[in-house]
Amino acid sequence: MTAPAPATPDDLLLRQAGRALLIAIHSTQRSLKLYPVENTTVQRALDDLLGHAVALCRLEGVVEVSLSGDFIFLNKTRLRLGLDNFAAFSGFVSLMKGAGIGKLRIEDGVTRREWQAFLSALGELPPGGEPEERLEKLRQRMQKSDVVRLEVDAAGEGGGGGGDGGDGDESLERAKRTYSHGVAAARDVMQGVRIGRTPNTRRLKRAIQLIVDQVMENELSLTGLTTIRDFDEYTFTHSVNVCIFSVALGKRLNFDRLQLYDLGLAALMHDIGKARLESGLLNKEGVLDEIEWRRMQAHPWLGTLTLFRMREGEELPYRAILCAHEHHMKIDLSGYPRPIRPRRPGIFTRLVAIADGYDAATTRRSYQNEPCEAEEVLREMWIKRGRGFDPTLVKALINLLGIYPVGTCVILDTFEVAIVAGPSPDPEQLNRPVVRIAIDATGGRIPAPGQLTDLSIPSSDGSYPRSIVKVTSPDRYGLVVGDYFI
Ligand SMILES: [Fe+2]
Ligand SMILES: [Fe+2]
Repeated sequence: MTAPAPATPDDLLLRQAGRALLIAIHSTQRSLKLYPVENTTVQRALDDLLGHAVALCRLEGVVEVSLSGDFIFLNKTRLRLGLDNFAAFSGFVSLMKGAGIGKLRIEDGVTRREWQAFLSALGELPPGGEPEERLEKLRQRMQKSDVVRLEVDAAGEGGGGGGDGGDGDESLERAKRTYSHGVAAARDVMQGVRIGRTPNTRRLKRAIQLIVDQVMENELSLTGLTTIRDFDEYTFTHSVNVCIFSVALGKRLNFDRLQLYDLGLAALMHDIGKARLESGLLNKEGVLDEIEWRRMQAHPWLGTLTLFRMREGEELPYRAILCAHEHHMKIDLSGYPRPIRPRRPGIFTRLVAIADGYDAATTRRSYQNEPCEAEEVLREMWIKRGRGFDPTLVKALINLLGIYPVGTCVILDTFEVAIVAGPSPDPEQLNRPVVRIAIDATGGRIPAPGQLTDLSIPSSDGSYPRSIVKVTSPDRYGLVVGDYFI
């Protein structure tokens, strides 16, 4: 692992602002696709986007966002992929690449109308054609709409990025690629089902193979990525997260590779029935009323039907179908759908149900939901073991993740704030994980990613120099968890 050069406060500020801008572009584009332009969601997204663009231009003058391979540069600074918003990042990259854009230039004074015209033109580009043709069409439309403070160039035009593209941890980059493959495959299948196209499971199986291979090598290599909290892409990232946790748990239970492939597939498809529900219901902000809730509860059997149909032309393990049907049943059968006769959900279902319950509780699902801390969720699952979840498997999950899963933000007895980077190397000391200190005892910010500190190593007198006092939210300290995985 190469140690990255320490980032200056200016760099950090720029990266933060850059990230916010990209996410704002991505979500404005998405809401323009979903709603008419006068809708308040679109208007709010545009306000937000303009705010970020103005702030960045004030900081930098002219802002150039360029793509170089899978890297994104803001002027000469490479934006590191924030794990929290990875799906939005990959969405942004495919949006740009899809239109043949290698570089987007934003000038000071850019208006809200220009953003709206640019993003609408981008969204309305007809599919197909060479990237150069698409870019040309986009330019013509921008010109027609008088967009002058936003400019687009093809990849390679006018010089590329530069800066620090070569550093970073290779295995993390690989993990991120695997993760984004998974998200893209899940998106593909679900959107296919939504428009009534029989999905091609080849891509999906390839994505699962990558996940299984990586988990076989190192079972925790992907779990750090599951801290992603991107509500715009919730259904897809959720499916991938459930797949990662299920496969890692399956490995703990000594499943062989082929069993893990089947388990991974079952996990990735467990919520496929949601693709048959109205998107308004899935994206609803706030609490569901009774009718909506009943409709939501239809997703297990809708999933079962979908998979049956898919199975006709494809090799699909029957256990995946069972899993879609049973994953909300709970082991005491108090969930849904209510079975007519007593039954014991299969091992695949019990595994996927745990992964599902854990991910759903720790991930933000809508603009209003606040996710629970991972350690709180694990404790709750442990207390209620036997009711909803298989107790042996809850234990296996706790052993896998540790009491403080990777990405948890903790306060230490030294008044420092740290981010958990991995479980303790000593299985007896699950309460003493390896952390990266993010804020020192005086409240000063330590540039990410900070030094690795193993809390299980005692001082010469046998006492521990640092212990965890409690778990806290990284938002409270303005920390972006993804920065600490570099
Ligand atoms: Fe579900
Ligand atoms: Fe789910």
